[in-house]
Amino acid sequence: MEREGMSAYSGKSNSADRIKITDTTFRDGHQSTLATRFRLEDIIPIAEEMDEIGFHSMEVWGGATFDVGIRYLNEDPWERLTELKKRFRKTPLQMLLRGQNLVGYRNYADDLVEKFVEEAAEAGIDIFRVFDALNDERNFETSFKAIKKSGKHIQGTISYSLTEQRLGGEVFNMNYYLEKAKAIEEMGADSLCIKDMAGLLNPYDAYELVSVLKEAIDIPLQLHCHYTSGMASMTYLKAIEAGVDVIDCSLAPFALRTSQPSVESMIAALRGTKRDPELDIKKLFKLGAHVEKVAPKYRDYLNTTRMSVIDTGVIKHQIPGGMLTNLVSQLKQAEALDRIEDVYRELPITRMELGCPPLVTPTSQIIGIQAVQNVLFGRYKMITGQVKDYAYGLYGRPPLPMDEKVRKKALKGYPKGEKPITCRAADMIEPEFEKASEMAKGIAKNTRDILIYALYPTAGLRFLRWKYGLEDPPEDVKAKTMDEIKKEDEMMERVKSGNYESISEERELKGADARNFNVYVGGEYFNVEVEEIGGKVKFKGMGETEPIIKKKNKRSGKKNGVARKETEPVSKSGEFVLTAPMPGMVLEYNVKEGDKVSVGDLLLTLEAMKMRNSITANVNGVVKSIRVPPGNSVEKNQALLIIVQ
Ligand code: CO
Repeated sequence: MEREGMSAYSGKSNSADRIKITDTTFRDGHQSTLATRFRLEDIIPIAEEMDEIGFHSMEVWGGATFDVGIRYLNEDPWERLTELKKRFRKTPLQMLLRGQNLVGYRNYADDLVEKFVEEAAEAGIDIFRVFDALNDERNFETSFKAIKKSGKHIQGTISYSLTEQRLGGEVFNMNYYLEKAKAIEEMGADSLCIKDMAGLLNPYDAYELVSVLKEAIDIPLQLHCHYTSGMASMTYLKAIEAGVDVIDCSLAPFALRTSQPSVESMIAALRGTKRDPELDIKKLFKLGAHVEKVAPKYRDYLNTTRMSVIDTGVIKHQIPGGMLTNLVSQLKQAEALDRIEDVYRELPITRMELGCPPLVTPTSQIIGIQAVQNVLFGRYKMITGQVKDYAYGLYGRPPLPMDEKVRKKALKGYPKGEKPITCRAADMIEPEFEKASEMAKGIAKNTRDILIYALYPTAGLRFLRWKYGLEDPPEDVKAKTMDEIKKEDEMMERVKSGNYESISEERELKGADARNFNVYVGGEYFNVEVEEIGGKVKFKGMGETEPIIKKKNKRSGKKNGVARKETEPVSKSGEFVLTAPMPGMVLEYNVKEGDKVSVGDLLLTLEAMKMRNSITANVNGVVKSIRVPPGNSVEKNQALLIIVQ
């Protein structure tokens, strides 16, 4: 229907007025809705058609896609990019780069940043959207230079954050954003992005912000909003009225929730106006239908814990989309989902103590996980390695100074020194590429492999072992097929109707719980897993010869999700078993079998929720045995090592 004369925005759009759209379906879309699990095999069938749509760019890489690829999908992120580049011949490919943090969770040395950008540009990235979690522009210096050198587009980014309900206040006011925008333009950015990772940008604030920024800077302005609070479509509309140049949207199946507004809805809303993007919505319906068809393979990752697809609580706790999905799944694993409200309450307090950084990767993880640990184990009883580095200044300068008491606590005994630095963080970091290539020798075959290792030493090395056939990847990194989904559905139907074909099928269909028993043998408590009738009996989590993993103990019970004490006696002979306080991966041991240890000694580093946690001894004794070799995943309460007194 023609809408001529209906509003000031009616009339045929000319190419200068048209709003441009970046599609995020293959990066932020699935990162925000499906914990980044969407696989290349489901992208390829529609890649060429997506290329035909006429998007300003396709965001396909960066953020968590790198990490999840090597950790959970057994998919080489470099290969994914190369495969996409073959199919996107017209549309520029875009990535999200965390400035000096690249696609990892700490600041890396300059040489690694240069190598990474160079490789990414060569593999197919045309537009680098660069942000820094602290909005510390010193963290852009090296990547900007490297992008320029590769002849690619630099998009400087401001992470949008608030301390109040609206734009303004002491920290995140109009002047803050204006100064940041000017600084980024001066540093040579080709465009500017406002990145509203938690969906906090109010429509009328967006109108004002875009108007002010469009006045102040000459480079194009792009807006990236998350739908989390339910405001993003309205925010886009007001930003479009104020003259924003580009908006980020996703195909409908991966839109809304904690993701972006849907591209189809935005097109429909702007139809017949001066800013009509003039994209073929019918083609998009078809592409959306493909995503909808394969999406059930990933349904386990969709957060279905609430009725509402929006989270009004985000206005208070300010957790960005990707972080929210992770936090929920991590709390679930720690069997502490019931503490989520406590975590929401703790978060703003922890954040203020850490100098009020915007909440975006990696600060969202750093603050989020520290808040989780403050809730589960007591405030700053367990401080992650990342919070220590942060307090030292290795992430950059937060908007406000850190709480001195917390900083002191975090830096007590910190190996680099107890006095924090004030220079650009990366100036403190020795070149690391050569060292990484030395360490990865014999397994890494090229620069891209070395970068995988350098960014993720443990998970990266494990991935390279899978890649080159030195180790079989576990079952759970394999893709689910639609046939399996169909079977699952049929099984569920039969469980619901109680229509089993045999007793053994009944056992199977009722799931793992039917095969796990708690038994007492000789006064000790065992958790026993029975494989099948006539099969062997296995003791969970331990070798088959030494059956003790959990002794029934008053303290071992879960109390509001609080982890039990780490070391507990397992027998009268004075043996203590150190268990994992949370699920994670053992990174390294600082002791070996036979070592004497005292209370407080660092025993091992456990990576949990992507944070390094120092696990210390709380008994004196000698390390009798190490149960889990480094690089292995552990469940909560799984035995890690045994200390004998
Ligand atoms: Co985003």
